[in-house]
Amino acid sequence: MSVTVRVPAKVNVQLAVGGARPDGFHDLANVFLAVGLYDEVTVSPADTLRVTCEGPDASQVPLDRTNLAARAVEKLAARYGRRADVHIHIAKDIPVAGGMAGGSADGAGALVACDALWGTGASRDELLEICAELGSDVPFSLVGGAALGTGRGERLRVLEVGGSFHWVFAVADGGLSTPAVYGEFDRLNEGVSVPAPVASGGVLAALASGDASALADAVSNDLQAAALSLRPSLASVLAVGVDGGALAGIVSGSGPTTAFLVADAEAGGKVADALVGAGVCRTARVAVGPVRGAVVL
Ligand code: C5P
Repeated sequence: MSVTVRVPAKVNVQLAVGGARPDGFHDLANVFLAVGLYDEVTVSPADTLRVTCEGPDASQVPLDRTNLAARAVEKLAARYGRRADVHIHIAKDIPVAGGMAGGSADGAGALVACDALWGTGASRDELLEICAELGSDVPFSLVGGAALGTGRGERLRVLEVGGSFHWVFAVADGGLSTPAVYGEFDRLNEGVSVPAPVASGGVLAALASGDASALADAVSNDLQAAALSLRPSLASVLAVGVDGGALAGIVSGSGPTTAFLVADAEAGGKVADALVGAGVCRTARVAVGPVRGAVVL
């Protein structure tokens, strides 16, 4: 007996960041879009909790208790007073690069999979609460589609989307630590009174109308300057993608993955070729969003 859950990657079409809070986190207005690159998380009964992973980036995935999938299963087991004795297998297609919520996807996937395997019957709100304990981006991996995340990004309001958006992702070599990027954001804004983050009317309207050009004009990421400061080479990745025909290029989340919005699949192929041809990224992946969040297969 086993249960498999498919979970998508995400891109942030807007990431507005406020000042540092007393708890060290930052208030956000975080507009998430789920895109069609997926991990599949399979859980099955086992003698003890263990994690395995397959896929091109599998060697970069931690298989110990720091893996969000393992932590998700432990949290659900603790709540329901049972042992977390499952084998979690992750078929990983989401690039392991940072900025695409691959780890968050595995956390949400393992949670939904174990809920089904054990017949726990946890409510959606309860699952979302566990997701929020696991990390700021994890609730969105469960919900998918498009959503505005406030608080530290975990409080979600589902957004209507009027069409499909085509993206190219330039997958960087080597990671960027999320806390380090937020730390650099704080350093760059030292002495500045950072305004409270608000969702952009332009972003929400472009999503609602499905208008890629309008979305290209509206996308923004307040962490981009910090990511570029720590990894200056990302500027040339952005330039190559835009010169290659992208409508817009942006750092995804805290990076180092960069995301390019393109008009259609054909333009996506050209931008991906330009990025790979220029040798500015490890690989380039094309994907369309929005797509559904975690689903049991
Ligand atoms: O919630 P998550 O574990 O993904 O956060 C990782 C780190 O990113 C946090 O420890 C914090 O440094 C930073 N962060 C933040 N404000 C947020 C989300 C994350 O400062 N809203």
